[in-house]
Amino acid sequence: MQNPFNLENKNIVITGASSGIGRACAIGCSQLGAKLLLIGRQEAELEKTKAMLPVPGLATILVLDLTQFEEVTTKVKAAIAGFGPIDGAIHAAGISTTLPFRNSTVEKMDHFFKVNVAAALHLTQLLIKPGSVAANGASIVFITSVMSQVGESAKVLYSMSKGALLAASRSMAIELAPKKIRVNCIAPGVVDTPMSQQAYYSQNPELKAHITGLHPLGLGVPEDVANACIYLLSDAARWVTGTQLMVDGGYTAR
Ligand SMILES: NC(=O)c1ccc[n+]([C@@H]2O[C@H](COP(=O)([O-])OP(=O)(O)OC[C@H]3O[C@@H](n4cnc5c(N)ncnc54)[C@H](OP(=O)(O)O)[C@@H]3O)[C@@H](O)[C@H]2O)c1
Repeated sequence: MQNPFNLENKNIVITGASSGIGRACAIGCSQLGAKLLLIGRQEAELEKTKAMLPVPGLATILVLDLTQFEEVTTKVKAAIAGFGPIDGAIHAAGISTTLPFRNSTVEKMDHFFKVNVAAALHLTQLLIKPGSVAANGASIVFITSVMSQVGESAKVLYSMSKGALLAASRSMAIELAPKKIRVNCIAPGVVDTPMSQQAYYSQNPELKAHITGLHPLGLGVPEDVANACIYLLSDAARWVTGTQLMVDGGYTAR
């Protein structure tokens, strides 16, 4: 029987591929046969990801700050011309903070919106241009967060951006369905990556234990999210669009 999660002959773009969840997605997709375009800012870390793949030769690296929109337009167009039409994308690039609402300035709101929302949507526009999408359509996956769905103190900036991404993805799913482009989100709880290791709560053992306790199954590992991405990219999810899959160890079940 054919493996329904097989990604052979699929061209997948992964942002945030230089670290954490994006890196695990690259390894998982590669193990299932995908050809990859890996995007991040740190070239050395992207090279490290590439070296971890079962077939490094099937991956291309693109060093980009996704908020440099003009450069992104030029370089992504050129990269796709060489890479071939896209079957899927995982948008894992993102930033997080723990900052009281009273300190969340308009400048910081703009910055969070630019990195976590506008950069992902701008890249998606480029990926779905006529001629850039594979004949059988494509699957776009945005990594949001449980914070798109529920609140937490000092998480206004982050929640704002992830909620916006979720809302945008639903309208995209409807607009792009006639083009056979599926659009979904994955909402992780706390996953052990450089982002969570650098978070405020990780510097205080009591706070870390409290956060861990909010997850009935404990904290996640990047592969937990990567496996969910593989499902949404694969033909097993051919009838799934406009949804958000909670991959959160039960965080939002309460
Ligand atoms: N870890 C968690 O607990 C958790 C929970 C829920 C949701 N998430 C979400 O999951 C995604 C991945 O997080 P992670 O935990 O893997 O974080 P991470 O280890 O800090 O990785 C973040 C990635 O985003 C990239 N990035 C950030 N700003 C960028 C920019 N302007 N242009 C291009 N790339 C940029 C980084 O690239 P460079 O390092 O190359 O700059 C890095 O590869 C994020 O969207 C995050 O919000 C994480």
